[in-house]
Amino acid sequence: MSSPTAGMKGGGYYDEHSEYQRRVAQSGLSSLADLVQGMDGLRADPLTIVDYGCSEGANSIAALRAVVIAIRRRRRDSCVVAIHNDLPTNDFNALFHNLVQRADSYLTVHGGPILPMASPRSFYETVVPRATANVGLSFSSAHWFRETPSSSVPGSICAMDASGPARVTLAKQADNDWTRFLEMRASDLTPGGILFVQMIGTQVDADGTRHVTAERLLRAMYEVAAGMVEQGQLRRDVLDGFVFPTYMRTAGEARAPLERPGSPVTAGFHANIVSVQPVPNPYLDELHKAGDEHDYAERYVAFVRAFTESTLRRALLEPGAVGQSVDTSADRFYTELRRRTAADPQWSVFEDWTLTIALTRTSDAS
Ligand SMILES: C[S@@+](CC[C@H](N)C(=O)[O-])C[C@H]1O[C@@H](n2cnc3c(N)ncnc32)[C@H](O)[C@@H]1O
Repeated sequence: MSSPTAGMKGGGYYDEHSEYQRRVAQSGLSSLADLVQGMDGLRADPLTIVDYGCSEGANSIAALRAVVIAIRRRRRDSCVVAIHNDLPTNDFNALFHNLVQRADSYLTVHGGPILPMASPRSFYETVVPRATANVGLSFSSAHWFRETPSSSVPGSICAMDASGPARVTLAKQADNDWTRFLEMRASDLTPGGILFVQMIGTQVDADGTRHVTAERLLRAMYEVAAGMVEQGQLRRDVLDGFVFPTYMRTAGEARAPLERPGSPVTAGFHANIVSVQPVPNPYLDELHKAGDEHDYAERYVAFVRAFTESTLRRALLEPGAVGQSVDTSADRFYTELRRRTAADPQWSVFEDWTLTIALTRTSDAS
């Protein structure tokens, strides 16, 4: 079974172009710090924190620092074990480089020993020995499908644009994945431990209007790919079969496996927070301040490339590029996305509704 992403674009590229994901994590840090300071099990020594989907680490290390500081307010001298998890294909070299180089590394927090470790493994499996994690974190990662979706969505690469049976199949796949993610965390976490997860989501208004994160971006990406098909640079059948492998859950979908009778995780967790909140786009904020569309398009498309390129290469360009190398094809794709974004920033804009879930591991689950 292989993941539909090989990880983010490495060699420092993701770190340099993930200001938005950093802003998302920052939006949750004060609730997270409160939960950590109030949790049973803060007396454990060592105290183990696991970050699921750490990528190259700059954002992960900064978020972990906030947790370590919260722990140190109550437990100055305890040993903290910090475990970074991502797929084996992730750039862990960059992460360990960051850990010793960055001024905001948690290694600079005073107090007892802090031991960094890595667990290169899918988070749809257990990641640490059973009942050894006290705090589980995951930022901007749990929306990735476990496997490439097999349903196609006519005229779109966005799973949320599906209708009819394809919609049902994709929702079921996403529900299975989220249930599996929680089941594996129920194994990793010790009773009294907390799990804090943020991912891209869907907000549903009281009148039923749905706001889907990244919907406009994914539609713009489809248009660029469709243009390449028209120019004979990309195979139509490959584009028709391609769905970008992320699912933007609603708060109701996040709660479902926790509340459903007979679900393997119903007894495993108590829900502290399940909410969807918009997080403003830092690239757009800068555009509104500086008014430079070309600079905006440059920085915004680099952000998009950082999290989409490995998937586009693997599932769209490697099987679908016609008469050109995959490198040329990828460059053409992002150059066109940038050109059209500079001409009309709203066309491809990334709007975010972040889903935040905070759970406490109860003691009565299997
Ligand atoms: C957008 S990055 C988020 C990185 C970091 N947490 C942040 O907030 O900037 C998403 C990460 O999730 C990882 N990921 C996706 N599916 C995964 C899986 N099944 N197991 C572990 N990591 C996964 C990707 O490899 C990628 O590094």
